[in-house]
Amino acid sequence: MTVKIVVPASSANLGPGFDSLGLAVNRYLTLEILAQNTASWQVEHELGSQVPSDEQNLIVQAALALDPDLSPLHFKVISEIPLARGLGSSSAAIVAGIKLAQHFSAKTFTDQELLEVATKIEGHPDNVAPALFGNLTISLLLNGQPKTLTATFPEIGLLAYIPDFELATKDSRSVLPAELPYKAAVRAGSVGNALVAALLTKDLDLIAELIELDGYHEPYRQKLVPHLATLRQIGHEVGAKGTYLSGAGPTVMTLLAPAKMPDFIAKAQAKGLTGEFVSLQIDQLGARVIG
Ligand code: HSE
Repeated sequence: MTVKIVVPASSANLGPGFDSLGLAVNRYLTLEILAQNTASWQVEHELGSQVPSDEQNLIVQAALALDPDLSPLHFKVISEIPLARGLGSSSAAIVAGIKLAQHFSAKTFTDQELLEVATKIEGHPDNVAPALFGNLTISLLLNGQPKTLTATFPEIGLLAYIPDFELATKDSRSVLPAELPYKAAVRAGSVGNALVAALLTKDLDLIAELIELDGYHEPYRQKLVPHLATLRQIGHEVGAKGTYLSGAGPTVMTLLAPAKMPDFIAKAQAKGLTGEFVSLQIDQLGARVIG
């Protein structure tokens, strides 16, 4: 049987949990291993000519970052995760490479080592942690090293609005301020603390309120993602449990009971939103090897 590596997409930040909170969702990047011990690395994919098909590929670079002695492999990439949309496509690629190396390496690695290598490549742990471990993850960097706690997410539907344009993380981070005034930082931190408490106690009404009160990034990114305010307003009209910018955007995620999704989508389309609406579920397993 062909060995497959399956890695979920992820939705980071959840509003005030900037660079810290992340959620694994059921869109997947899959690697199919076609041959082992090949003369050189061969990566088959349909992601376009700008994505390398050799050792320069990000998946291979991540695999070699975990184990530089890994023998080359020939594998195929099948991805349901759109690029540069705020659903963790690069983190999924990094985590796929790391799981690939873990599976085929002669060495053994702990989950913490996988997290450390993945975070070093990605720069922050909020997407790689849910891609690795599934569910809701709460992460931070301590003396440069990532720590992650995992928790289950409350029972609520997730509706992603995926616009038909890309937004590079670099561009979306370039609009953020270098510093926050002390009072604003204290408020943003306390909102984030309370949001985590609301998530852990599964208090959906409190989540609905707090997830929309981010002070770290959404106010600065709003001009790049004007559909966020539109969708948030529609969410209020239909009784959603909160709307936030997924990762660096442009995808926007709404916590919404599935029965209310058709009405939400109809209202958004009536306001001229032409992107894709996707109902998602939490991935509870994280990255896994099949076969
Ligand atoms: N926390 C990151 C950001 C996620 O919002 O920029 C994207 O990598």
